[in-house]
Amino acid sequence: MKQKPVTALIHSSRKAPQYINTIQPPLFRASTIIFENTDALFNRHWTDRYDYSYGTHGTPTTFTLGDHIAQIEGGEYCLLAPSGLSAINLVNSCFLSHGDEVWVADNIYGPNMEHLRHLEKSYGIIVQVYNPIDADTFQPNENAKLIWLEAAGSVTLEFPDLVRLVKKAKAKNILTALDNTWGAGLAFNAFDFSHEHLSVDISVHALTKYPSGGGDILMGSVVTQDNALHHKLFRMHAIQGIAISGDDAAQVQRSLASMQIRYEHQSQSALKILNWLKSQNAFAQVLHPADSDNISHTYWNQTCQTGQSAGLVSVIFKPEFDVNKIRKFCDHLSLFKLGFSWGGPVSLVMIYNLTDMRHLERTHLEQGLLVRFCIGLEHPDDLIQDIQNALQAIQA
Ligand SMILES: Cc1ncc(COP(=O)(O)O)c(C=O)c1O
Repeated sequence: MKQKPVTALIHSSRKAPQYINTIQPPLFRASTIIFENTDALFNRHWTDRYDYSYGTHGTPTTFTLGDHIAQIEGGEYCLLAPSGLSAINLVNSCFLSHGDEVWVADNIYGPNMEHLRHLEKSYGIIVQVYNPIDADTFQPNENAKLIWLEAAGSVTLEFPDLVRLVKKAKAKNILTALDNTWGAGLAFNAFDFSHEHLSVDISVHALTKYPSGGGDILMGSVVTQDNALHHKLFRMHAIQGIAISGDDAAQVQRSLASMQIRYEHQSQSALKILNWLKSQNAFAQVLHPADSDNISHTYWNQTCQTGQSAGLVSVIFKPEFDVNKIRKFCDHLSLFKLGFSWGGPVSLVMIYNLTDMRHLERTHLEQGLLVRFCIGLEHPDDLIQDIQNALQAIQA
């Protein structure tokens, strides 16, 4: 029967081949997934790892990316979320309920702390803060359920004493969740990070950073090794309707191929820039865990056996550089752009006031405003020149 134009526009007689060999896996876009017949409909098992029943539960494109991320990180299962923060929130909402205690490193990614404070106010969980470089400050009570680790931590970049913290948590059956964005599954293996084969339970990764690598896509992941843990997260992921677009998944999948090369380049550039920054007298302190003068260097050295570190380096300006001078410094930068995030091609800079950010005493940090440099893919010599020009502008 000849179809009317409006129908013919929808139903093409040409069927795309189900499979051909290409460098990148095929891209599936789906909300609706069509069942072959009613048997397939009534026999669907959307809780199976690779069952295709509706777009929110996953497509071959999102499962391919998830499996790849799990493999890179040394885990078994992966759930994808529309941002790193949404992946963090999935863990918090899955494992914490009224009366539970959660332990958070003082240098944790700020919005994670904000989410936990919200849960504290609205749902009666108890937030406790520990010093990541002093495992003695982690003193869990009977009701402790979860500890958040971050290696290295946000902005001040202290590398935690992972070995002691994880051992202490495991001894008390407390879940260990690591924000693994900095290490990206490359600097160390979160599921086997010491000669004693220690492992965290959950690795959360803002794929927005290195895996995307373009500064243009938001995504997050939650990787686990334990099947029961994965299934708890899986159900929460499903009932919260957490889903990502196929297009974004395909873009991140495509970028994974170059991630190690980009990570290494940015890591090496950061080390070169770190050494130059240390020679400048405008700074009271330069912060990077691979620096042998850094307070957390031993922990970085113990865990990051690959010798790698991400492309982040922070400086604390001497107190005579007030906020106006620091703003002038940032406004004078030309290659470094003023913006949040990291791991992309373009170098970024951001200003932080630690007084507003930390809960514990921070005796290891100098007074002064902090500027974080996120090193992109530009040549480090050009980036050094850019910083030098901006420094001259405020020192003149
Ligand atoms: C350490 C860390 N974790 C998580 C996130 C959150 O990622 P997203 O921006 O995708 O929400 C960020 C973002 O800056 C981050 O720096």
